[in-house]
Amino acid sequence: MIEGKKRAAQAALSEVRDGQILGIGTGSTVAIFIEMLAERIEKEGLKVLCVPTSYQSAYLAMEKGLRLTTLEEHPILDLAVDGADEVDNKLNLIKGGGAALTREKIVDSAAKRFIVIADEGKLVERLGVKTPVPVEVIPMAWRTVANSVRILGGNPRLRDGGDRKDGPLVTDNGNFILDIKFDEINDPRALEFELKRIPGVVEVGLFVNLANAAYIGSEKGVKKIERKM
Ligand code: 5RP
Repeated sequence: MIEGKKRAAQAALSEVRDGQILGIGTGSTVAIFIEMLAERIEKEGLKVLCVPTSYQSAYLAMEKGLRLTTLEEHPILDLAVDGADEVDNKLNLIKGGGAALTREKIVDSAAKRFIVIADEGKLVERLGVKTPVPVEVIPMAWRTVANSVRILGGNPRLRDGGDRKDGPLVTDNGNFILDIKFDEINDPRALEFELKRIPGVVEVGLFVNLANAAYIGSEKGVKKIERKM
């Protein structure tokens, strides 16, 4: 799996050009990309600026000496590179395993080109088969959102903070995450809209028609999927 992530990150790195403003996603595959980018900058003296999508990516990027900027300074990005939890053959995605989906969607949408990097285990025939859809919600609304989600046929679960935090996970934006399992997702775009219009929903981890390409890495090599326009 790690080899697949490395190959995908390496392939995305080959698209980076001197002078670009980059969007930097979140997760373990992006962490590898950040390390590789830092090495390339060191070797080739590239001048790139990065907009991170989480504290995790911002702190790793800073530690590796990357120069950071913001969407306020640079609202249009040349290239965004981000991971995914599921990728279908139309390059629709489920994202938010690392609870960074809101900033990821903002940054990825601001890029002229958005590339997904993932290992082959993320490729699915149909979204939602393995992974629930993460939805970021305003804390006071999580129960009302959960009720509305059940009416849409979803099974919501409030994400727990894990070993290091009692109670719900709190995102970088101070919100909660509902992980919503659906039996099947036939129309990701329609579901994204249905979820987005529930009061209290901040963002939905379905990324439809956003990615331009994906590099899917495996032990054997890397496969590029380019979205047909
Ligand atoms: C974070 C994300 C990540 O991109 C996604 O969870 C993939 O992470 P990894 O590269 O560690 O498998 O959406 O919110």
